[in-house]
Amino acid sequence: MQFTIAIDGPAAAGKGTISRAVAQDLGVAHLDTGLLYRAVGMKGGDPVAAARNLAPQDLEREDLRGLQAAEAASRVAVNPEVRAALVEFQRDFARRAGGAVLDGRDIGTVICPKAEVKLFVTASAETRAMRRWKETGEGSYDAVLEQVRIRDARDMGRADAPLRPADDAVVLDTTELSIEDAVAQARAVIQARL
Ligand code: C5P
Repeated sequence: MQFTIAIDGPAAAGKGTISRAVAQDLGVAHLDTGLLYRAVGMKGGDPVAAARNLAPQDLEREDLRGLQAAEAASRVAVNPEVRAALVEFQRDFARRAGGAVLDGRDIGTVICPKAEVKLFVTASAETRAMRRWKETGEGSYDAVLEQVRIRDARDMGRADAPLRPADDAVVLDTTELSIEDAVAQARAVIQARL
């Protein structure tokens, strides 16, 4: 069967964990599209050239998971030429035989508007900052919260492909959920639609 599962939402809402779990359940590939923007942001120089020439080894850098890469990613992600340069790679991935799971900010709205399942995973900024702070072990909680808020505002406020739920997305708020319960609810939504 050929299908695409689009999982969007703000930073540290649980998208990555949910995406990996459901991709494994279904035995299909998963693309963390944030990694593309992180790699472009960390490459330095002209971000449009970096996006056009992105190579597989750029995605393997050790420093892509940290807060500096997140900040650099959201800065280059406002550039429509950067976004345009990354569209085909993401759509090709979504067309993989057997199906695919993609997570990001604009998968259900722009990259794969016809995805069979669209989930919008969210949580309060405080909860997401606490998760990200514990996960990265970087800086103070207050500094991480500030960064989450700045990144949310930048991602939701940009003109091109702003972060928002697609009209046909199912919204999953994980603020009060354990990881296990969040994954279980996502599985239920997917099973009901595939
Ligand atoms: O998901 P992650 O936190 O790795 O994304 C880093 C940044 O990359 C986001 O804050 C956002 O600005 C950008 N991004 C995007 N579109 C995507 C994935 C990520 O604009 N599909």
